[in-house]
Amino acid sequence: MSKIIAANWKMNMTYSEIDDFFYFFKNNDDFKEDRKIYIAPPFVYIDYVKKKIKNLEFNIKIGAQNCYFEDKGAFTGEISVSMLKDIKVNFVIVGHSERRNIFNENDELLNKKVKKVLESNLECIFCIGEKLEERQKGDTFKVLEDQLKKGLDGISKFDNLIIAYEPVWAIGTGVNASGEQIEEAHTFIKEFLNKNVANNLPILYGGSVKPENISEILNTKNVDGVLVGGASLIAEKFYKIING
Ligand code: PGA
Repeated sequence: MSKIIAANWKMNMTYSEIDDFFYFFKNNDDFKEDRKIYIAPPFVYIDYVKKKIKNLEFNIKIGAQNCYFEDKGAFTGEISVSMLKDIKVNFVIVGHSERRNIFNENDELLNKKVKKVLESNLECIFCIGEKLEERQKGDTFKVLEDQLKKGLDGISKFDNLIIAYEPVWAIGTGVNASGEQIEEAHTFIKEFLNKNVANNLPILYGGSVKPENISEILNTKNVDGVLVGGASLIAEKFYKIING
């Protein structure tokens, strides 16, 4: 089965850094065929990245890191899913732990966003994951189940849903979850999805993915790909991850 390699650039990159990034890929484009590449730049660079990838020999899906669920109106600072459709993005990341924890996005709001993205026929990468103290208390599965139940409540169309398991303690820390921890969480999520949601939805792992650990992670049972933050900003590292 093919693997999804998704980049979340977060609040990083400038025009010249984006130029350098894609300059590298002009000369380095021999990818394993079964890789599906996704990149989520900051909103303001989406259009520029779309222009950049037009000249490449391989396909990259472009997405947004966030959205709002209303179509338009008095919502200062927000970007709607219909606007994202209008500029032809392919996917939206919803529920990243930074949105949940820094911007206080709760399950109810995230549920509306997931619903809107899926109803709009865009792909949705819905992120879930436990904090360190929740893992230490033995609550990991409870947290994952709760986030899945609440986030997917009342939704009936799941064709474009991708789940990303991102333990909060592994994000941006350099310490990835172990193969055993990843397999255990992914197997739990897969069983929950197969029973309550839909069969065979892809499940990505995220949290300190880098060239050094990519092959172990991609070879872990029930891992269908990765969501990469820091290491996706450096073209050479991202290239190694794609081919990992
Ligand atoms: P990281 O971030 O790869 O820098 O740990 C992952 C993520 O936040 O999706």
